Amino acid sequence: MKKITIKGTGSCAPERVVPNSYFEKIIDTSDEWITTRTGIKERRMIEKGQAMSDLATLASASALQMAGISPEELDLIIIGTSTADMVSPSAGCIVQHRLGAKKAVAFDVNAACPGFIYGLAIAQKFMQDGSYGKALVVGGEIISNRIDFKDRSTCVLFGDGAGAVVLGHSNGKDDGEILSMDIESDGDLWRLIHVPGGGSRIPASHEMLNEGLQYLKMQGNEVFKHAVRTLVDSANKIMAQQGITSGEIDWFIPHQANIRIMEVVAERLGIPTEKVIITVHKYGNTSAASIPVAFDEAVRSGRIRKGDLILVNSFGAGLTWGAALFRY
Ligand code: ACO
Repeated sequence: MKKITIKGTGSCAPERVVPNSYFEKIIDTSDEWITTRTGIKERRMIEKGQAMSDLATLASASALQMAGISPEELDLIIIGTSTADMVSPSAGCIVQHRLGAKKAVAFDVNAACPGFIYGLAIAQKFMQDGSYGKALVVGGEIISNRIDFKDRSTCVLFGDGAGAVVLGHSNGKDDGEILSMDIESDGDLWRLIHVPGGGSRIPASHEMLNEGLQYLKMQGNEVFKHAVRTLVDSANKIMAQQGITSGEIDWFIPHQANIRIMEVVAERLGIPTEKVIITVHKYGNTSAASIPVAFDEAVRSGRIRKGDLILVNSFGAGLTWGAALFRY
């Protein structure tokens, strides 16, 4: 089995910054409530007319440049997203077209926040037998047009963004390696986070729009409990598979949904806060984009270096969850 490694990273956040003070003007909330309950101070949102593939294409181009790989060399493009540009075709095919990645096979994975981790796991399987050599895995999401700006329990939480990695076969000891992956789901809990309208059950209609069924519905405090349990279990599972203890982890990148969830999970795993990469204060919850964006920023700022041992984990609508352990 061939070893798979990360050759390049990239990310893209929209330019428009939406601070907590914006929500103080439109709903009954406060900067103090949002900051203490979530850790979020601001988030980025697209301008009208922009779409997920705009961010994903820029993030991908940046990851390809770092990897020194041209789009024409890509064999595989997987986009973790639940907010593709259109219902059909996939965002993967749009990004393939925009990059000019002629020979790649391209598709999306709809697994909500862990979509990037699901994408990594799928790419790893495709590449391990050597039949696929170079892959692009993206986590990208535009949540700003899926949220109801009148629902204070959800609208303050989310932001838009995209992050990407380019994968290749590892050249040897110093080239890094994806060590272990875990992806899981529990469809019994689908109601906890869902967007009811716009699919085949409740297709687009004036009635659907009037009832606000195009917007994300979430039972936040129920999700909170499941998030902590699944994030801890998934991380422990893959560390045990490799015989690695949390003391050996150089950097922990949890899904950037809520600072309180991240702190509890890090504490239960025995990982000190100085080893936790945090971006939730400036981007909010960007769903599938949260881990690749945080990873790319940590690589480009020089915090994460070649050879570091990285643990990432995520959870989201489905419910879905997962974790990855890799040496960069
Ligand atoms: N401003 C002020 N008050 C608010 C706000 C707000 N923006 N939102 C809710 N409140 C109020 C509630 O109405 C409630 O008031 P009440 O006590 O009078 O009824 C009170 O604050 C407490 O509400 P809770 O929901 O219990 O607050 P909690 O501490 O659980 O925080 C939060 C809510 C931030 C949503 C938290 O539960 C959370 O982060 N959950 C996890 C959500 C998540 O991470 N989802 C990720 C997956 S998303 C995806 O897959 C796309």
